[in-house]
Amino acid sequence: MRMTVRRLTRAATAGLVAAAALTAAAHSAEAADTLGSAAAGQGRYFGTAVAANHLGEADYAATLDREFSSVTPENEMKWDATEPSRGTFTFGSADRIVDHAQGQGMDVRGHTLVWHSQLPSWVGSLGASDLRTAMNDHINGLMGHYKGEIHSWDVVNEAFQDGGSGARRSSPFQDKLGNGFIEEAFRTARAADPAAKLCYNDYNTDGVNAKSNAVYDMVEDFKSRGVPIDCVGFQSHFNSNSPVPSDYRQNLQRFADLGVDVQITELDIEGSGSAQAADYTKVVEACLAVSRCTGMTVWGVTDKYSWRSGGTPLLFDGNYQEKPAYDAVLSALGGSGDPGDPGDGTLTCTATYTRTADWSSGYNGQVTITAGGEPISSWTATVTLPAQQSVSSLWNGTPTRSGNVMTVRPSWNGTLAAGASTSFGFTVAKNGSDAAPAVGTCTAS
Ligand code: G3I
Repeated sequence: MRMTVRRLTRAATAGLVAAAALTAAAHSAEAADTLGSAAAGQGRYFGTAVAANHLGEADYAATLDREFSSVTPENEMKWDATEPSRGTFTFGSADRIVDHAQGQGMDVRGHTLVWHSQLPSWVGSLGASDLRTAMNDHINGLMGHYKGEIHSWDVVNEAFQDGGSGARRSSPFQDKLGNGFIEEAFRTARAADPAAKLCYNDYNTDGVNAKSNAVYDMVEDFKSRGVPIDCVGFQSHFNSNSPVPSDYRQNLQRFADLGVDVQITELDIEGSGSAQAADYTKVVEACLAVSRCTGMTVWGVTDKYSWRSGGTPLLFDGNYQEKPAYDAVLSALGGSGDPGDPGDGTLTCTATYTRTADWSSGYNGQVTITAGGEPISSWTATVTLPAQQSVSSLWNGTPTRSGNVMTVRPSWNGTLAAGASTSFGFTVAKNGSDAAPAVGTCTAS
């Protein structure tokens, strides 16, 4: 078990605790303009996935620390990262995230104890009896190390198949231990850290369908037999092939009605502009409508480090500018104002880049310009191309070029209402480089 900032804090005197409470109250009153504080006003946490290797980037850390109240290590607590060979636990990267979070007063979600993916090969080669021991040892090793420091653990992740069958997914655990491995993992987890909420987590279970029905039946069975389960995580990775389901709220509610909390655990929605913002609003509103929906986590801080970076699915663009989706989430959470938008007549805009077409020798890029909280009559954005690349045409904008930097101003589309978007596009010859251009900060007038 670790000796941490949080453990030391627990030993604080009553006076110190009272002072901390006052500080927390002042913080939340002053900062209902961040995701974490607005969600706290609704009795929820608002978290993000975090990668340890980005914590040294100033803008990344500043955005994380300002906006979020919970973190989930994106990869650092997975089996391949924490027990790469049997019995040898490596916690360095995960500890960095937990220490950072605790230093900022954020909570930590644990992801994940038993999963078929990112599983070292030694696990798959064990026989049934050894595998059962190894699974329980892994749960005890990880949960013991972080005992008392994790608000919710994804005990088992993605154990059901996609498609209409509702069957369990093939994995070393399923194939060698049978259906009972999930129950055994939860029982071991409860004993390892009785204070942690124990979740089952999966994707494509966000609406009512065969897969979510199968998970529902399992949770109902666990509750009826006293198998310890506290929460169900709905990953909520959405795009045009897998849109926010119309029965999302209803599905969250039916699980909650079984007597478990529900959490949105890995939210991201591909897209941009007002359509993406509207989808984010639907998700936040669904969670707020279900009293046992205790919090939401987006799967990354910035589009540029998303596992689906091409789909720009997050709340901050690659330059850490707030997107319309950010404003929509803050507003749905009842937040007031926006630190990037002073609300004092200052004119602001954001610029978000997407690659819209790609072929061997070239690609089309698009930059979406979105006005902040005030109407604007013009904007300026810079696009810096990798040295080898050249732009052959540009539309819906007026470029001036200096070396590989294009400064783009409106052609016909300078006037934007508050929160409204326009975009310009361009065709690039790769000349051997497939790298993405960098889009600079948008300025408005
Ligand atoms: O760190 C190595 C780097 O050293 C190496 O050069 C590079 C070459 O491929 O790989 C890097 O590791 C990658 C790692 O992300 C860190 O970026 C892995 O290849 C890559 O497979 C891994 O992807 C992660 C994925 O899970 C793996 O299954 C994503 O970051 C992570 O966002 C994603 O998260 C999952 C959740 O855990 C479960 N639900 C779905 C979700 C999205 O797939």
